[in-house]
Amino acid sequence: MRILIVGNGGREHALLWKLRRDAPAATFFATRPNGGMVHECAAVDIAPTDVVALAGWAAARRIDLAVIGPEGPLAAGLSDRMRQSGIPVFGPSAAAARIESSKAYAKDLMAAADVPTAAYEVHTDPGAAEAYIEACGAPVVVKASGLAAGKGAVVCETVREAVRTARSMLAGTFGRAGSKVVIEEYMEGEELSVFCLAHGEDFVPLLSSQDHKRIGEGDTGPNTGGMGAYAPVGFVTDALMTEVGERIVAPVLGAMAESGCPFSGLLYAGLMITADGPRVVEFNCRFGDPETQAVLPLLDSSLLEPMMAVAESGGLGGHSPVFRDGAAVTTVLAAAGYPGAYPKGAPISLPPMPTGVEVFHAGTQLERGTPVTSGGRVLAVTATASDFATARRQSREAAGAIEFDGRQFRRDIGWREAERRG
Ligand code: AMP
Ligand code: GLY
Repeated sequence: MRILIVGNGGREHALLWKLRRDAPAATFFATRPNGGMVHECAAVDIAPTDVVALAGWAAARRIDLAVIGPEGPLAAGLSDRMRQSGIPVFGPSAAAARIESSKAYAKDLMAAADVPTAAYEVHTDPGAAEAYIEACGAPVVVKASGLAAGKGAVVCETVREAVRTARSMLAGTFGRAGSKVVIEEYMEGEELSVFCLAHGEDFVPLLSSQDHKRIGEGDTGPNTGGMGAYAPVGFVTDALMTEVGERIVAPVLGAMAESGCPFSGLLYAGLMITADGPRVVEFNCRFGDPETQAVLPLLDSSLLEPMMAVAESGGLGGHSPVFRDGAAVTTVLAAAGYPGAYPKGAPISLPPMPTGVEVFHAGTQLERGTPVTSGGRVLAVTATASDFATARRQSREAAGAIEFDGRQFRRDIGWREAERRG
């Protein structure tokens, strides 16, 4: 069996790690693998968004399964092109990927399916945006409608700040991603990530998780791609997961299928658990990063089998994931300066890790056999243990044992869960 992983971040390293466990005899390929993945697969030197070249390569190599990690190639139509070439692919069509690539599309879909989310309006005109912001009052959230690498949403504490943010987005701070802005009601509550393997109207949720988007401890400072995550989340009951399935996931998948744009792949529901129940912050059309690095190490059953079933368009084939008891905590190590500009090429000292700790590479590459930094988020260190407190301590200690110039990481990943558990 020949499996291609598209993407080279921490999420893709975790996908590779899990799929290799599921299929030890398979041959793995990845696009421009990072310094950790490169030991575990063959490299394909084609950019993930070069959809024509990559689909052509996959067809020539008779790839049995292509797993597309990031949203960029999905939005660019990689899975459509691969399907046209007869390659089984796990990842939605470009049309379905709009659930992430166009916040305006996602919002309209939720309104049509009566899915609970923040009240909102979409604007292209600064004057009209300002009038709506004034009508909402503060706090209020201003978002670029297009893809902005997790940095396109600004929670504004005052009307003035919101007006300034909307004007600057419309004036081009986020390029074309900000030519439309979504202005929405601020929702109060705790965030939750729910991943669902989905095909048409068939879906099954994975373990709940929570990530930490802000750079600073105590969830302060600017938003990042994600500085850490843990799974499962203690307050999530079976009843809450049922409610998320019935009120959010099923209606959205139903509306997409009905409109001739069925979703196939991983649907990520980013939720706010409010006093009125779960409401949607955003949908993503792919696995979350770094939540995947926390969720997959707890998955005892095969990921490959349901992915293959989805890719071959037969639905989920009755596969139901089985997770082990216990907890996983992932700490991200980031480069100095991230989420702003950061240096590259710092040598990384990676000591041997204790049992139960996995180091997933993200922004790394090998230079003369030594890993060096090559991105903002450099490594994701996941500890799994039978209890949350142990996993948390081991993740923090393991992250602290890894060194490179200017490294930053949060020592408080999972603080809400720790407080809940007392
Ligand atoms: P997004 O880019 O939509 O994922 O938003 C990034 C982050 O901004 C989310 O993870 C939340 O922490 C915050 N956020 C976005 N929308 C809202 C909202 N309507 N109410 C409160 N917080 C929000
Ligand atoms: N962890 C947030 C994301 O993957 O979008």
